Amino acid sequence: MIPNFIVKKLIINFAKYLFISIIFLSIFNQVKSDEIFNAGKKIFLDQGNCAICHTLLDAGSYGNIGPNLNEIRPDIMRVIAAVTNGIGVMPAYQGELSPKEIEAVAHYVSISAEY
Ligand code: HEC
Repeated sequence: MIPNFIVKKLIINFAKYLFISIIFLSIFNQVKSDEIFNAGKKIFLDQGNCAICHTLLDAGSYGNIGPNLNEIRPDIMRVIAAVTNGIGVMPAYQGELSPKEIEAVAHYVSISAEY
């Protein structure tokens, strides 16, 4: 039989370990999603040329060929669909941007269109 005080110590140590891991993971995830956000912003302004046709305040773009993204506030799946396959006059980016780049720009648009 393990003495009670050792069991208590083990539980406390385990709780500490769990707590530290959660803090660490959440900081790490924050950094990672910020990286994707910044990569997406760059694609929006540069490779993707989205800024030419779309208004998006965070990107400082005022294009008005396509809908104002701050008004339609598309979720990430809607942006992925539009960018991958094109829609109306908007060209498809499949082949031009990698799936990872499309996901990054969609992540960026869906989050930044909210503010
Ligand atoms: C040549 C101009 C042009 C470019 C470049 C362009 N778009 Fe568009 N976009 C449009 C037009 C026009 C529409 C509206 C299409 C329609 O509904 O017929 C549209 C629609 C959209 C929509 C809404 C789709 C929906 O479901 O209603 C999103 C989101 C979007 N564009 C994001 C982007 C992103 C992100 C990029 C850059 C990777 C981009 N666009 C590049 C012209 C453009």
